[in-house]
Amino acid sequence: MKLVVRNDDRAVAALTARLIADLLKARPDCVLGLATGRTMERVYDALVEISRAEALDFSGCRTFNLDEYIGLPPGSAHSYRTYMNDRLFSRINIPIGNTMLPDGSATDLAAEAARYEDAIRRAGGIDLQLVGIGETGHIGFNEPLSPFTSRTRDITLAPGTRRQNAALFDDDIDAVPRRALTMGVGTILEARRVVLVATGSAKADILAQAVEGPVTPMVSATALHFHPDSLAIIDEDAARHL
Ligand code: GLP
Repeated sequence: MKLVVRNDDRAVAALTARLIADLLKARPDCVLGLATGRTMERVYDALVEISRAEALDFSGCRTFNLDEYIGLPPGSAHSYRTYMNDRLFSRINIPIGNTMLPDGSATDLAAEAARYEDAIRRAGGIDLQLVGIGETGHIGFNEPLSPFTSRTRDITLAPGTRRQNAALFDDDIDAVPRRALTMGVGTILEARRVVLVATGSAKADILAQAVEGPVTPMVSATALHFHPDSLAIIDEDAARHL
């Protein structure tokens, strides 16, 4: 895993957005793997800024998000679909039909997971997959002990993850769903490039484990050491314990 440390979260977001913009210019039909969370908000703001300044054309690009909560009502303000529409898709010229997330309201979750894997395969695989990192070390929602070979599936969220994500549910932990559909670690490792983005001192401990600790399914992000083209872009606060 290569590591790039930048001064602050703005510089991290700018570099990450630049990598995506350059890929899109080189390959207008690229397949992007996208992520959610507060860290990515700045990345998408930076990407929208570049898109406007350089007239990026997303019309031929397709996107697959890592995960979605299970059991939120359709159109919920807290779904990752709503997050992505608001934060990125409505601000660039991507046809909404080119944007994919697992459907957390599907009645047959195993069938939905298989359908999602198949859609990624039929798109030719993911060129660049963005991932954040949870304080449990998860990538996507692959909580500790997720096998490195795991595929898209439904998963029970760790209590710490629900606490961490309560910030996006008006600080109401009871409103945070208990389950999610997530790409597996194995699914993520198949992307041609994986870019992990982390900022802020709250991520410093887990990031030190992810970058320097032993490779273990207890910290899903350590699986990225097996990837031939994985890159972590972090700020100085997140790098504090390296
Ligand atoms: C959620 C997402 C993860 C993301 C994590 C980090 O759990 N499912 O993909 O990495 O949040 O979130 P934040 O950027 O808000 O710290």
